[in-house]
Amino acid sequence: MCGIVGYIGKKNASPILIDGLKRLEYRGYDSAGIALLNGTLHIHKKKGKVADLEQILPEFSDSLTIGIGHTRWATHGEPNDVNAHPHTNEAGDIAVIHNGIIENYGAIRAELQRKGHKFKGDTDTEVLAHLIDEIWNEADCDFETAIRLALKEVDGTYGLCAITSREPDKIVTARNGSPLIIGVGEDEFLIGSDASPIVSHTRKVIYLNDGEMAILTRDSYTIKTIENVTMPKAIDELTFGIAEIEKAGFDHFMLKEIFEQPEAIENSMRGRALPNEGQVRLGGIREHIDRLRNAKRIIICACGTSWHSGLVGEYLIEEYARIPVEVEYASEFRYRHPILSKDDVVIAISQSGETADTLAAIREAKAKGALVLGICNVVGSSIARETDCGIYTHAGPEIGVASTKAFTAQVTVLVLLALALSQKRTLSDEQTKDIIQDLYQLPKKVQEILNLNEEIFEMAKVFKDARNFLYLGRGFNFPVALEGALKLKEISYIHAEGYPAAEMKHGPIALIDENMPVVFIANKDSSYQKIISNIEEVRSRKGRVIVIASEGDNDIDKLAEFVIHIPDAMMPLMPLLTVIPLQLLAYHIAVLRGCDVDQPRNLAKSVTVE
Ligand code: F6R
Repeated sequence: MCGIVGYIGKKNASPILIDGLKRLEYRGYDSAGIALLNGTLHIHKKKGKVADLEQILPEFSDSLTIGIGHTRWATHGEPNDVNAHPHTNEAGDIAVIHNGIIENYGAIRAELQRKGHKFKGDTDTEVLAHLIDEIWNEADCDFETAIRLALKEVDGTYGLCAITSREPDKIVTARNGSPLIIGVGEDEFLIGSDASPIVSHTRKVIYLNDGEMAILTRDSYTIKTIENVTMPKAIDELTFGIAEIEKAGFDHFMLKEIFEQPEAIENSMRGRALPNEGQVRLGGIREHIDRLRNAKRIIICACGTSWHSGLVGEYLIEEYARIPVEVEYASEFRYRHPILSKDDVVIAISQSGETADTLAAIREAKAKGALVLGICNVVGSSIARETDCGIYTHAGPEIGVASTKAFTAQVTVLVLLALALSQKRTLSDEQTKDIIQDLYQLPKKVQEILNLNEEIFEMAKVFKDARNFLYLGRGFNFPVALEGALKLKEISYIHAEGYPAAEMKHGPIALIDENMPVVFIANKDSSYQKIISNIEEVRSRKGRVIVIASEGDNDIDKLAEFVIHIPDAMMPLMPLLTVIPLQLLAYHIAVLRGCDVDQPRNLAKSVTVE
């Protein structure tokens, strides 16, 4: 949420910042801006996308070798030129960019106004620039100390970068609740709110922790806490390269990521389960496996798509491991004073590993003594680091704002986790082996479904102007119905709802008429006949029926306007297959409606505010 990039070195900073902002744009795209330094500050900012900012940029000289840039997802103050970052103090010699929310900014602003400060816009970040200035003018100190003292006065979250013409050879950056990574290059440093603006320059990185700040010059870095304690820091290596964050010939990141799912599933299983063995090996939870298997209750906390994979996880763990599971929206869990004990296990699922609500839920759970297990995609992310143990999904970087391959990778990991919890308890090695063997067939089956892309595109053309959609599924496919509806609404802006199919008659059936497309997930399983009855109920009210059905089930064709036939797997593994056509349907409808698929309005990847 909001993107930060910084550069200090010997190269022209502006193209590096602009390239970085383009890579970060998926985190927010209401406005963008940069500040460059060569003795004086040069600030350019603009409402809209990075491309709009580029239109107003002059030619920059090679002497501008220090700079910071920001792409914004608005929290305080409407998205306009004035509220775009960077923000400055009144004299215009301090520039600040900031992710997060300063909760007490109103009180600080009022106090500064009382002292004569005049503000141009409405953002909390501008208040920060003025506060640093005020403290710096009052105290006999350096820039870094002024920032440190200012941060001690603020409540809230920040990932912050600041430069000043008064000390023109440094960038100061600080973190509390909003991620920051420092890229360590040859005579240069980069800063990113994630690794995407850094990876084309260097794979060597330092992850800042909450409460830490870094002072960067061209040839040195110092990391300290905001209490002024110097911190020794390890340099880590990024696990992915530039190729993974490019579109590779696809029209959109979302489409590329949908097509990467066979690989994402395979990578998430690799080395963890062998098809000829009835064993699962999950190194990240090995030390805690007894406590996990003996949990009285498991609570899964997540948001959005990750919450949907959590629902699949509930069904999987209860089915295989017979441990009771509850699935909570992380935002609700945190604020409703949950009852937790040492016998409980909390599983936090997050693609980004930075979602503020999920992070807050983890902290609540840890404080109450529960064991917390993280399932994250981003290596080194806050959630990955704050949990007691964890399992990475290996989906690779997900840039499209709508989550796709992260979902299937999460479900893959949840299958493995459910099996690991079942081992030596509820499942024999033979049973585990059968499931793993079926799991191994999935990448190939997902590819077969991806080969139906053209067919799904044709179907999308027919339904692109619908105003509402209903998605219905039962059992393991109920969370998929929710996910299908979420995908459609977030990228095409068509209102869509997912329901358990049997719930339709308790309310949603009132919506059915000749304008309502209803997507049924109706694979051949134990509830197949019941779903057929639900289809008949929709047909008799003239609803338009789309069905995701099993390969070879041709009888169903006569009940529907469109049928997408897909391969079958064991029922608990079906979400990994049934979600694919729904992702493609949402994608094509959104593209046909002219929507910005990778950057849907009002959304941002990685929601780091509560
Ligand atoms: C939906 C989507 C969001 C995220 C949610 C959680 O396509 O992308 O609903 O799933 O914001 O994000 P993570 O998984 O990063 O915690």
